[in-house]
Amino acid sequence: MATVRRKHTVIAGLIATLALFYLWTINDAVSLQSQGWSAEELYYIEAPDYFWTILPFNYPPDSGRQFPETNSKELPKVQFSFPKETTAARNVREERQRAVKQAFSRCWSAYKQYAWLSDELTPVSGGHKNPFGGWAATLVDSLDTLWIMGWRGPELDEVVSAAATIDFTSTEMHEINVFETNIRYLGGFLAAFDLSRDVRLLRKAVEVGEMLYHAFDTPNHMPVTRWDVHAAMRGERQVAGTLLIAEIGSLSMEFTRLSQLTGNSKWFDAIQRIMHELAAQQSSTAIPGLWPLTIDAGKMVFNSGSTFTLGAMADSVYEYLPKMSALTGGQLEVYQTMYEKAIETVANHILFRPMTPTDEDILIAGQIHMKDQDGLVVAELEPQGQHLVCFLGGLVALASKLFRRPDDMAVATKLVEGCIWTYKAFPHGVMPETFTMKPCATKDNCTWDDAYWRQEVKTRVGGNNKDARIDEIISQERLPRGFTSVPDRRYILRPEAIESLFVLHRTTGRQDLVESAWDMFQAINRSTSTQLTNSAVWDVTLPLDQAPQFSDSMESFWMGETLKYFYLIFSEPSLINMDEFVFNTEAHPFRRPVR
Ligand SMILES: *[C@@H]1O[C@H](CO)[C@@H](O)[C@H](O)[C@H]1NC(C)=O
Ligand SMILES: *[C@@H]1O[C@H](CO)[C@@H](O)[C@H](O)[C@H]1NC(C)=O
Repeated sequence: MATVRRKHTVIAGLIATLALFYLWTINDAVSLQSQGWSAEELYYIEAPDYFWTILPFNYPPDSGRQFPETNSKELPKVQFSFPKETTAARNVREERQRAVKQAFSRCWSAYKQYAWLSDELTPVSGGHKNPFGGWAATLVDSLDTLWIMGWRGPELDEVVSAAATIDFTSTEMHEINVFETNIRYLGGFLAAFDLSRDVRLLRKAVEVGEMLYHAFDTPNHMPVTRWDVHAAMRGERQVAGTLLIAEIGSLSMEFTRLSQLTGNSKWFDAIQRIMHELAAQQSSTAIPGLWPLTIDAGKMVFNSGSTFTLGAMADSVYEYLPKMSALTGGQLEVYQTMYEKAIETVANHILFRPMTPTDEDILIAGQIHMKDQDGLVVAELEPQGQHLVCFLGGLVALASKLFRRPDDMAVATKLVEGCIWTYKAFPHGVMPETFTMKPCATKDNCTWDDAYWRQEVKTRVGGNNKDARIDEIISQERLPRGFTSVPDRRYILRPEAIESLFVLHRTTGRQDLVESAWDMFQAINRSTSTQLTNSAVWDVTLPLDQAPQFSDSMESFWMGETLKYFYLIFSEPSLINMDEFVFNTEAHPFRRPVR
C-alpha cells in the first residue's frame, strides 16, 4: 500500500511539475511576445546556436524559481518634485552639463583613436590594456553614457555595430572575474538596450549571460567567481570555493533584468538560490545583520568570519538589496527585510562621527573586526573611511524613499556631507582612496580636541618612534587636521561621491548639492587631466602647488559612472528619472516595472 501511495504521489507530483513547467513556458512566451519581437528576432535574442548556449552542463540545474505571480506593488515615489527652474538657473546648469560632456567627448575620442575595442586606454602613454577579458570594457561601459549624452543615429550605430562584434568565446586571460564581467559587460548591455531598444544589445547581453551561467555549473550551483573560463569551455568539472561576499551577492540585478527582458527565468533562478542563503544566514553571523567579508560557497557557509565592512569587497551585496526591490516592483519582500536588518546594524556598529576641527555633524562608515579579548569576543571599530563607501549615502537615501523610512534621510545626509567635507579637506579638493579619523565618543556630542587628535596621530603613524615630534609626523604625513593617517593616497577616478550627491539631490531636491558637485568636478578635472583624457593619480595629499603624478590608468568606470553621474546631476531631473530606472553598481540604469 505504502509503495502504491508513494507511486501515486510521484505521479501526481510529476503531473504537477509538468503543468507548472507548461505554465512557466507559456508565461515566458507571453512575456516575450508581448514585447513585440518577431519570430526571427526571438531566435536571434535567444541565441540557441551560440557556443555558450549549447555547451553541456555537468550539473544541470534542478529548479526553476520563477517570478512571483502577484503584480508589482506601488512603491513610494523616489524623486523629489522639482519646481520649474528659472532661465538663469537653467543657463548655469546647462553650461556645467556641457563642460562634463566636453570632458567625456575628449576621453571618447582618445579611446577611439588609441585604444579602440580594448578594455582601457592608458591616458598618459596613449596605449591600451586588457584587464577585463579584452572585450572592450570601456566601450561597453560607455554605451549608455553615450546615449544619455545624446549620441544617436550613425554615430551611435557605429559603436553598437562594433559592440556586436565582441567575441565572448575567446580571451587571452586565464581567469575571468565573474563579478566585474557581470556589472560592466552584462550591466552595460542591459542598460544600453533598455535605453535604445536596439536588439543587438539584448543579444549581446544574452551572450554574456549564457557565458556567466556556466560559472554556476557546480555541484551546489553556487558560482565560481574567479573563473577559469578555458577549463569551462572544455567542459571540465568545477566547484565553488571561498569567495568575497560582494562577488556572489551582486549578480542579482543583472541576472534578474536579463530574465525579465528575455522571459527566461533561469538567471533569476540562479541568483535567488544565493539570496536564499544570504537571507537564511544573515542573523547568525558574529554581527547579526551583516555578512562577513569572505564566505565559503562550496560548503554554503555564509555566516562565519570576523571582518565586517560596507567597503571594498562587500559593498554591493548591501547595495543590491533595495535596488532588487525597485527592480522587481517590491514583489520580493525578502530584499526589504534583509536591508532593514543590515542597515540597523550598520547604523549601530559601522557608522561613526569623526572628530573634526569645525565639529561637523557628519558620518563615516568604518569596519568591524571581531577580536578575542581576555576570552571574550569583542567588536573593534577600525575608523577607516574609503572613497568606495561614499556610495552608502545615496543608497540609504534611495531606501529611505522606497521603504518609507523617513528618519534614515538624516543618516543619508550626514554620510553624503561626510564625503563632501572629506573632498574639501584635502589640498586638491579630492578625497584619497582611504583615510582614518578619530571617532567621537558619541554621535551627539563631539567637540574638537587638538591634543586628543595629536595623540591619535602618534598612535597611528608614529607608534614605534617614541621621540617622534608629532608636528613633524603631521607635516611629513601631510595630514589635514582631523585625519590620523592616509593609508592610500591615490584617487583613481572613482564615482561613489558624485553618485551619492546625485541620488541625494534627486531624492531631496537640495540645490546646494549641485554646487558641491560642480566644485568636485572642477577639482577632479584639474587634478587628473592629461594631454589626452583623465588619469588616476598617486597622491592627492600633496600641497596645492604640486600636481599629483599620473598613474597612467583610466578604468572604464570613469566614463561609465563618474562622468555619467556628473552629467546627470546637471541635467533635468526627468533624464533617467529614478522612478523609472534603478542603477546597477556600475551606474547602468535598468528600467523598473511600470504598473
Ligand atoms: C560634550 O563633551 C564634552 C567633553 O567631551 C563635555 O565637556 C560636555 O559637557 C559635553 N556636552 C554635552 C551636551 O553632553
Ligand atoms: C577640464 O580640463 C580640461 C583639460 O585641462 C580643460 O580643457 C577644461 O576646460 C576643464 N574643464 C573645466 C570645466 O574646468
